Amino acid sequence: MKEKIDRLKERALAAIADTHIVKALNELKVSFLGKNGEITGLLKGMKDVPPEEKPAIGKLVNGLRAEIEEAIANRERLLKEKETAARLESEAIDVTLPGKAVARGGLHPVELVKNQLIEAFLPFGFDVYEGPEVELDYYNFKQLNIPDDHPARDMQDTFYITDSILLRTQTSAGQIRWMEKEKPPIRILSPGRVYRSDYDATHSPMFHQMEGLVVDKGITLCDLKGVLEEVCKKVFDPGVKTRLRPSYFPFTEPSVEIDVSCSECGGKGCSLCKGTGWIEILGAGMVNRVVLENCGIDPDVYTGFAFGVGLERIAMLKYGIPDIRYLFDNDIRFLKQF
Ligand code: PHE
Repeated sequence: MKEKIDRLKERALAAIADTHIVKALNELKVSFLGKNGEITGLLKGMKDVPPEEKPAIGKLVNGLRAEIEEAIANRERLLKEKETAARLESEAIDVTLPGKAVARGGLHPVELVKNQLIEAFLPFGFDVYEGPEVELDYYNFKQLNIPDDHPARDMQDTFYITDSILLRTQTSAGQIRWMEKEKPPIRILSPGRVYRSDYDATHSPMFHQMEGLVVDKGITLCDLKGVLEEVCKKVFDPGVKTRLRPSYFPFTEPSVEIDVSCSECGGKGCSLCKGTGWIEILGAGMVNRVVLENCGIDPDVYTGFAFGVGLERIAMLKYGIPDIRYLFDNDIRFLKQF
């Protein structure tokens, strides 16, 4: 019996020292100390031991059990430490590595200008309406008092799709759509893309305009001037001056061009303002009686003003952009500056 105990001890300690994962150690634990394990087997064999040897053998078996338990506990601690160390190493994050920068997007300068204008007009109670880009001749020209063969058509080189369908040349088309649908009082802004067959440093075949239309009882040219003066102060700077200059559009009467004082020279005259001290920013006027009548609005009761502003033009003036094509080249180095 004593020999058996010694052999088991040797075998058990060697097996324990040979385990490398906690799971294998647990299996050993069961096979030595479990209900059907070898130590339990030894204890069961005690009944065959002669009574005088029982105390000594019993002591040996209990001692062996304690020894195996301790060896297993020690090995378990060691293996767990090793497993933790290995896991920490494999999951380690090198906090000294440089991070990956996420590139931040931004709004296009034309979009910025559009938002600034809308924001400046909102306190006056304007709604925003966007009409279609593929438009009928009827809305783009005819209802705006520009019949077929009218010389004013030459002012806007038009992309025709059919005889009666075209790419809108002006957001003014939206005025008619709105007036046909809504009764006064009317206050709308209508931003969007427009198209003309034109291409050079200050003209692009596609560009953006924003139309404004106000129709109500008692609207005068003073309202037009007052509203636009306020907006120019907000969009350019509070000290900017504005002036109205006579002009011509078939759909407004009288028609004006609005100039702002040159931001570059403050009105003294420079190359930006071509020596005049003023820079033209938009076309406007009192809605022509004919246009109101065309839309079923009585011009003896209601009057209105309208304006149309080129967004690229404002962006170029505001940010000092010398060529309109920069706005459409999608060069990230240019666009990042706004
Ligand atoms: N539609 C005109 C243009 O494109 C601008 C304008 C709008 C003028 C409204 C007067 C009133 O040139």
